[in-house]
Amino acid sequence: MPDFQPDNLTSGPEGTADIFEAVYSQRAIRKFKEDPVSDETLRHVIEAATKAPSGTNRQPWRFLVIRDSEKRSRIAEMIRVNAENDPGIRDYFTEGAKSDDTGRRLMFTGALSLLNHLDQAPVYIIPCLYWDDRQDVPSNNVLTGASIYGAVQNLQLVARALGLGTVLTTFQAPVLNDLRPYLGIPENALPCALIPLGYPDANFGPTRRLPVDEVLFWDSWKD
Ligand SMILES: Cc1cc2nc3c(=O)[nH]c(=O)nc-3n(C[C@H](O)[C@H](O)[C@H](O)COP(=O)(O)O)c2cc1C
Repeated sequence: MPDFQPDNLTSGPEGTADIFEAVYSQRAIRKFKEDPVSDETLRHVIEAATKAPSGTNRQPWRFLVIRDSEKRSRIAEMIRVNAENDPGIRDYFTEGAKSDDTGRRLMFTGALSLLNHLDQAPVYIIPCLYWDDRQDVPSNNVLTGASIYGAVQNLQLVARALGLGTVLTTFQAPVLNDLRPYLGIPENALPCALIPLGYPDANFGPTRRLPVDEVLFWDSWKD
């Protein structure tokens, strides 16, 4: 066993080459510095994503990396305006931001702030499921998702290792009909997330999760 003590995990914005530290401290980052991220670094992050497994090694993915500030502003506006006009989304976030549970309240407050200031992230990554064969276009069922969310996790972990913050969002989903023509996304590509990325204006650090003994069943399911 490697000598890793989760209880000794420190918080900070630096990168790490230690895979355990990266996994245990990769938390949702929703505030970013303005510092640009080099194309070489972004390429590295996407290359790491492509090392993920996929069904029959089909690698059904394409990654849109949006750096252009005008495009980021336009996409942020689409998402913000849509949320403002959708009482379901608006109430979900504003009610959550009033939660009595501190962790939940902070999460919703951060998510709401991100929604309103998305263009402050210097980069968006939009991972897309992509099928070459138009007879077999991507569906959005959970098994299809299994061939892309591993790549997303690789991407987020390697970003964290490089000292870059990310947060997986599904902000793209409600504005997909506007996003497709704006970014030229073909019908045989399905955007699966919108991931803001940048150098964090926050710290990496421990995350709140259920205790492992509550979610781990040995040999058969236990109620
Ligand atoms: C499927 C999925 C959708 C998510 N959607 C959003 C979102 O729309 N906005 C947001 O700010 N965070 C979103 N998140 C991030 C989660 O809120 C975050 O991963 C979770 O609260 C754990 O955060 P932590 O790693 O900082 O503890 C999403 C995460 C997942 C896996």
